Parts: sequence; C-alpha cells; structure tokens
Amino acid sequence: MNKNKIWWSSEQFWKKTAIWVTALMFVILIFLSFDTINKITVGSNRVPSYSVINKQISYKFDTKRNFQVPVISEQDSPLFGKKLTEEQAEKLVTHGKKIVQGRNCMNCHTLLGNGAYYAPDLTKAWLDKAWGDEKYREQLMINFLMEPEKNARTFGSGRKMPNLNISKQEAQAIIAFLKWMSSIDTNGFPYNFNAISQGEK
Ligand code: HEC
Repeated sequence: MNKNKIWWSSEQFWKKTAIWVTALMFVILIFLSFDTINKITVGSNRVPSYSVINKQISYKFDTKRNFQVPVISEQDSPLFGKKLTEEQAEKLVTHGKKIVQGRNCMNCHTLLGNGAYYAPDLTKAWLDKAWGDEKYREQLMINFLMEPEKNARTFGSGRKMPNLNISKQEAQAIIAFLKWMSSIDTNGFPYNFNAISQGEK
C-alpha cells in the first residue's frame, strides 16, 4: 500500500465500513419490525379489538397531534342492534375482510392507503358524511353494497360502483369490517376527511 495515502482513502477502510453499516441497519430493521408489530396488533392502543363494533365510534380533532383521532365511546352502540362477544365480532369482521379481499375491492378502492385510486378510500367509509344520519346509516350501507347502482350516495367522484352481487349477510360482514377499520388510529389518514355528524346517543 502507498504510505502517503490518507487513511480514509484506503479501499480496506471502505470495505469494512460497508460491512458495519449493513450489519447495523440489519439490527435496526429487526428492532423496527418488532416495534411495528406491537403497534399494528389487534387489541393494542391504536388497533382496537374486534368487539369495538359494539361501540359508537366518532372523531375528534386533536389539537396536539393536529389531526382527527378516533374516539371510542363507553356507551354501547351495537352493529345491527346485536351485541357480539369478542369471538363473534372477530368472526364477523374476519369474514368481512375476506369478502373484501376475495371480491378484490382494492381493484378500485384503497384500504388504509393500499389499493387503487378509482374510488374513495374505505378506511373511514363507516364515518362518511354521505350516509347522512347515523340512524339510517347501517341500512343505507346494506342497500348501497347490495345495489350500488340504484343507491349511489354522492361520494363526490361522479363515478359509479358496479353491482357485485353481494348478499345481505355479506354486506353485513363487510360493514362490520368497515366499522372496525374506522376505529383504527391511522395518524390522521386520510387527511381532510369529513366525518358524519355525531348525534347524541
Ligand atoms: C369497479 C370499481 C369498484 C369496485 C370493484 C368496488 N367499488 Fe366500491 N365504489 C366504487 C365507486 C366508483 C364508488 C363511489 C360511488 C358513488 O359515488 O356513488 C364506490 C363507493 C363505495 C363505498 C362508499 C364509500 C364511502 O366513502 O362511503 C363503499 C362502502 C364501497 N364502495 C365498498 C366497496 C366494497 C366493500 C367493494 C368490494 C366488495 C367495492 N366497493 C368494490 C367503485 C368500486
């Protein structure tokens, strides 16, 4: 090796640095993976357990975090008027999620930001102002999912959702999934979302 060379210009030094940086990043990646798993697990602070569908879910602007955060009321507001156990709620929400996956709703919609941009993001569809009034929302959602071409609400896009031959039972499971998803603390995503007005219950 040339003795006049400065230490940081040696090839050896950069080879070692590359190995150390890669190793360090690998450790950080493992740490972040575990950290993320904690935060996205059902039943954690940000992702409520499935029985949250028994409660009223609303939104409140958090001045500290500077966006809307989900508020889960203490009061019961069971979906379709029937309070479910944790297992029953999990079964229904999971059924809904599988229908959404099986019917490939993501082909047009985004869910938690993933999917296509043809139709509205469904993360907070449960809380959409377009349902008008909380009292009629469940029925309006069933009607819409079963016959979207006849029951189109104005979601602002001017586009139409096709009829996907969804049965009433399937619609109910999808709505359970959408209600559960709307309770997730998504750090304000999607931004500028207008939530349905919260009547006193
Ligand atoms: C071919 C594209 C397409 C597919 C596939 C599709 N949708 Fe839609 N969906 C739309 C469009 C377009 C709208 C907006 C309709 C309107 O404005 O009347 C919409 C609206 C909605 C809304 C109302 C959104 C809101 O903001 O409240 C819900 C809920 C919904 N779709 C659920 C679903 C589910 C569940 C599936 C899968 C079973 C699905 N969609 C599959 C195109 C699609």
